[in-house]
Amino acid sequence: MNYIEEIKKLKKEKDVLILAHYYVSGEIQDVADRIGDSFQLAKDAQNAENDIICFCGVNFMGESAKVLNSSKKVIVLDDNAGCPMADMAKISDSDIDKLREEYDDLAVVSYVNTTADIKSKSDVCVTSSNAVKIVSSLPNKNIYFLPDKNLGSYIASKLPEKNFILHEGYCKYHNFVDYDEVKKLKTDTDYDVLVHPECPAEILSLADYIGSTKALLEYVGKTKKDGYIVCTESGIIHQMKKYSSESEFITPKSMKQCKDMKLNTLEKLYYALLNEGPEVNMREDLASRALVPLKRMMELG
Ligand code: 13P
Ligand code: SF4
Repeated sequence: MNYIEEIKKLKKEKDVLILAHYYVSGEIQDVADRIGDSFQLAKDAQNAENDIICFCGVNFMGESAKVLNSSKKVIVLDDNAGCPMADMAKISDSDIDKLREEYDDLAVVSYVNTTADIKSKSDVCVTSSNAVKIVSSLPNKNIYFLPDKNLGSYIASKLPEKNFILHEGYCKYHNFVDYDEVKKLKTDTDYDVLVHPECPAEILSLADYIGSTKALLEYVGKTKKDGYIVCTESGIIHQMKKYSSESEFITPKSMKQCKDMKLNTLEKLYYALLNEGPEVNMREDLASRALVPLKRMMELG
C-alpha cells in the first residue's frame, strides 16, 4: 500500500489537520500540514478550524491540543507514546498547598511536558521557547518549576532576581549527553554546538546556541555553517538539512533517540486517519482546569 497517497486522500476527505513535532520520522514530517516545536504546535492546534486534529508526537501534546480546542476531535497515532519526563512530575494538591504556605507569593510554573492533571494544579505553563519571557513577566518572586530540573536551572540562570524551587525531573535522553564526547567533537571539528535546554548545565556551557527545537532550526537557517553538533533528538536533522543542505550534522552518540516519539510511524498515521483514533478524551472538569495555565501561556508567550 502507498501510505503517503492514502494519508493524503484521507486527510482531505475527513478534513484533518496533521501536526508533527520535529522529533518524529522525516516521512511523517513530510506528509504533515504543520511541523513545529511544542509551542508552535499548541498555537496551530488552538487555531485549527478542521474537523479533526491528528497529533504526531507524544501524549502531553495531544492532550494540550484537546484542552486548547476542545470542540475538535483530537487523535494520536499511538496512545502509548508518553513522555518519561512528564511521568516524573508527581505532586499532590497537599504538596502544593504546603509549598504555598512555605513560600509567600509562589507561582507554580509547569513545563508543557506534563499531564493535564499537573497542569490543572499550575498557575502557568511554559515551553522551552517562551519560559524565560513568561517567568520574567510574572509578578511572583518565588517560582516552583516542574518537572525539568535542567530547563528550570537554565531559566533560573537568566532570572537571578527570582527564587526558584526546582522539581527533580529530567528528560531521560537529553540529561545524559556526555560532556567529554561533545567537547571532543567540538575540538575536532570546530562546528557550532546546538543545545536544547533540557540538557544539563555543563552541556549548555559548551553551546554556541541554546534554544527550543524551532529556535535551533532557525539558527541553522540563519548561519548555514559547515557543520553543527546537534545536542537534541536527531529527528530534527531532517528539517535542518532542508534549511542548510551543504552543512554536516553530527549527533553525539550519547544523545539517544526518544523511543516514544519513534512510536509514531507512517503506517500508524494511516490507520489513525482511517479509524479516527486513538482519540484523546478528557474529563470536562480536568480539561477546563488545565486550560487556565495553558491559556495564560498562550497570552504571555
Ligand atoms: P520543544 O518545545 O523545543 O520542541 O521541545 C519538546 C521536547 O519534548 C523536547 O524534548
Ligand atoms: Fe519527553 Fe525527552 Fe522524549 Fe522530549 S525527548 S518527549 S522530553 S522523553
